[in-house]
Amino acid sequence: MAVYLGIDLGTTGLKSLLVRPDGSICGSGYREYPLSVPAPGYAEQDPEDWWRALRETVGEALSKAGVRGEEVAAIGLSGQMHGTVLLGGDGRPLAPAIPWCDQRSAAQAAEIRARIGAENLARWTQNPVGTGFQICSLLWIRENQPDLYRKVRRVLLPKDYVRFRLTGQTGTEPTDACSTLMFDCAQRDWSRQMLEAFDIDRALLPDANHLPTEIHGGLTEAAARELGLKPGTPVVFGGGDQPMQAVGNGILAPGDIAITLGTGGQIFMPTDRPVCDPALRVHSFCHAPSEMWYVMGAILNCCLAQNWFFDKVLGTRDFAAMHCRAADVAPGCGGLLFLPYLTGERTPYLNPQAKGVFFGLTLGDDEATLARAVIEGISHALLDAMLCIRELIPAEAWPSDSRLIVSGGGARSGLWRQILADMFGQPIYATAMREEAGTGAAICAMVGAGEYASLSEACEAIVRYEDGCVTPIPENTAVYHERHAVFQELYAANRGLFNR
Ligand code: XUL
Repeated sequence: MAVYLGIDLGTTGLKSLLVRPDGSICGSGYREYPLSVPAPGYAEQDPEDWWRALRETVGEALSKAGVRGEEVAAIGLSGQMHGTVLLGGDGRPLAPAIPWCDQRSAAQAAEIRARIGAENLARWTQNPVGTGFQICSLLWIRENQPDLYRKVRRVLLPKDYVRFRLTGQTGTEPTDACSTLMFDCAQRDWSRQMLEAFDIDRALLPDANHLPTEIHGGLTEAAARELGLKPGTPVVFGGGDQPMQAVGNGILAPGDIAITLGTGGQIFMPTDRPVCDPALRVHSFCHAPSEMWYVMGAILNCCLAQNWFFDKVLGTRDFAAMHCRAADVAPGCGGLLFLPYLTGERTPYLNPQAKGVFFGLTLGDDEATLARAVIEGISHALLDAMLCIRELIPAEAWPSDSRLIVSGGGARSGLWRQILADMFGQPIYATAMREEAGTGAAICAMVGAGEYASLSEACEAIVRYEDGCVTPIPENTAVYHERHAVFQELYAANRGLFNR
């Protein structure tokens, strides 16, 4: 049986997966890399760390699988979205990469909003502007490091940089280009209006008129040597991590809705036309099938907030034991609420100044109550994202068999699934898939190499669901309904204090 390499370039680490055409993972490797913080609110990464992680993990995956490098039939990529890699004339990065979670460009984001207004943003890009999006990072560089900006010859998204190292060619595709905020998602092309409004030279940007499943070229001799693979191995464009995660979960067309509990959390709903939120609280991005889009509410602090609480407050990573204790705490935590906005928030507030809050502490609260409040608080934030989507696309317009499918690291917790079912008042399903983004990337490679005729044919053959679902408990739904109103008021009441 053939084998495909799916590369998942994440925010904190890179995973290489060797995937068989039936979706089984026969080998994998993972390496973390640092997210350096040279100043408060800044985040940077060295693109060379991505490459080193790729080199090490491909070798590891091959040896675990007992597969020879020549047997890898094609390669696909999934990447952290929004970020910025600046290349000079010699094709080398001129500076550290600026990933999506960098907050330095808050002034540029505000300037974009003020200068062109929400209506034009909606018309030209269909999206809200967030700090760390490529256009904001570019404007920050131009204003603060003009000498560096003058040397830039090409601007790439993170996974497109890695593919450039593989094939020697630069290019991108709509699922990732849309996250730069220089892209017209409805037209699936760079936005002439945005580029003109902010005087950005189109020549700096790669061609975006490609499909995630399209072959972009073959491995160069040098890359093949470094990775232990065959020169000329086809490399497909791949896509942004959100659409690749959806591909790995078989969510391609209107129907099921994905809830991802990763570092950030997302509610992802495919649409068969671009649907723009006039209030610009949720994203409207391009999906992997060329005739599909998706709306997405993105919260910034999902497992990130949970991990913070475990690492910095509890001093343990024993999630299972603490979730077991937290399951004995009554829903609603006796009034204790947690606002999870530790790194600001995107949906629905777009407020980089928002902060975390524990509210309503009493002498009766212990670490299990706090742990449950953290999970509930993150789930309340996800519900806010879902409410924006329900407002935009009324539930009556959803396919009647629409299910909520949860995935990501947090989805392994039975407690968290129950809280979500109770909070959303809907059953929660899960796929039996693991490593969905990397699998999505490998699926793109399979389609590119002709193993399957289309993404839907591949997903049909590969994606499996867990049996059963977690159903809501009506009394708990009533408690959370009442607590959600307080959760929203708590933010509103404190909004003016966060930056004082
Ligand atoms: C999507 C988003 C994240 C990043 C990092 O809008 O911000 O999915 O791509 O993983």
